[in-house]
Amino acid sequence: MERRLAEVRELGREEGEKMKFFLDSAKVDEIRYARDMWNIDGVTSNPRHVRNSGKPFLTAVRDIAREFEGSGKPISVEVNPHHPSAEPMVEEAAKLASLSPNFVIKLPATEAGFRALWTLSERGIRVNLTLVFSAVQALQAARLGATFVSPFVGWKEANGEEISHLVQEIVTIYRNYRFKTEVLVAAVRNARQIVEAAVAGADIVTAGFDVFKEAFDNPYTAMGLKRFSDSWDATAYE
Ligand code: E4P
Repeated sequence: MERRLAEVRELGREEGEKMKFFLDSAKVDEIRYARDMWNIDGVTSNPRHVRNSGKPFLTAVRDIAREFEGSGKPISVEVNPHHPSAEPMVEEAAKLASLSPNFVIKLPATEAGFRALWTLSERGIRVNLTLVFSAVQALQAARLGATFVSPFVGWKEANGEEISHLVQEIVTIYRNYRFKTEVLVAAVRNARQIVEAAVAGADIVTAGFDVFKEAFDNPYTAMGLKRFSDSWDATAYE
């Protein structure tokens, strides 16, 4: 027990603080289901998800915000990926952040993105540094005050790259220097990647609707339920 408490303190977490699950989507029907059935802790969106929602950008992100009004659950909203420099990123980020207290602004891990992150941190606007593929990018994000850092494990693995060390390294670095930035493991494609993120000590995973749905299901559970149902049917109740 003592050891457990010491570990919790070292991680900078409150005792009993859970690992968080965010839904990676901009579709309101998926978001509602995940909120009401799975108690998800937040939402991440990106331009691809917004396009798939079929709505204009501002309508899509406002609709998501409405689902979480008053909850304090973070919703990541990404700036226009065409911005060539930090200034327009900062300008758009400030505008988006003023639309909802739940919004956390996603910026890319580019030189302009890092510069914009620095300015926004000083202004108290929360940033999720996205498109992170290395531990040193994550370190720089934390130095500049990111609220979340999003290593894209699924994209790396899909390209044949080894991913098991990346999240571990980021978690260790943040622990070594007591950074408050939370590790949000992104582009998660299956149950194994969720578990690996948890074992590495990540704060959050974000995954698509189908990934969570499949991960929470298990064929053995259905098989066991059938077996127990058959026994139930063959037994008198009293
Ligand atoms: C998370 O914040 C990202 O938007 C997401 O995980 C990217 O992955 P995708 O390939 O599922 O869009």
